[in-house]
Amino acid sequence: PDERTLVLIKPDAVRRGLVGEIISRFERKGLRIDAMVSRTMDAELADEHYAEHVDKAFYPPLKAFMTGGPLVALVLSGDQVIDVVRGLIGSTDGRRAAAGTIRGDLSLSNRENLVHASDSVDSAKREIALWFPELG
Ligand code: CMP
Repeated sequence: PDERTLVLIKPDAVRRGLVGEIISRFERKGLRIDAMVSRTMDAELADEHYAEHVDKAFYPPLKAFMTGGPLVALVLSGDQVIDVVRGLIGSTDGRRAAAGTIRGDLSLSNRENLVHASDSVDSAKREIALWFPELG
C-alpha cells in the first residue's frame, strides 16, 4: 500500500492566494488527495502538532502565525510520498530553498514558508491521527 503524509498549506499561503498553485504542484506530480479540509488551528492543536518544538525560541511567533488564520490540511498518498513531498516543498528557509521547489519559488521566509509536511513515517502517522482521526 502507498505511503501517506500530512500536509498543511499554511495561513500565509491562504492569505496570498497560493492554495491552488500549491495543490496543483502535488496533483501534477501524480499524488492523490485522500482528505482535505480548511480549518483554523487553535492553541491546543498547535501545541500538539508542534510538540517537538514547543520549547524552542521560535515557537511563540510560529504559534501566533499558525493560529492566525485558516489553513488547508491534506492527506496525500503515493509511492514514497513522504520524501517526494519534502522534495517538492524544499528546505525550511524559503531564502535558501532551491529554485523549483514550492518554498524556493514562492517564499522569502524561514517561518512563513507556505507548507508543512510530515518528516518521517512515524510523524506522518501521528500527524494524520491528529488532523484526520477518521482515517485511522
Ligand atoms: P514546519 O515544517 O512547519 O516545521 C516547523 C516550523 O517552524 C517550520 O516549518 C517553520 O515554519 C518554523 N521554523 C523552523 N525553524 C525556524 C526558525 N529558525 N525561525 C523561525 N521559524 C522556524
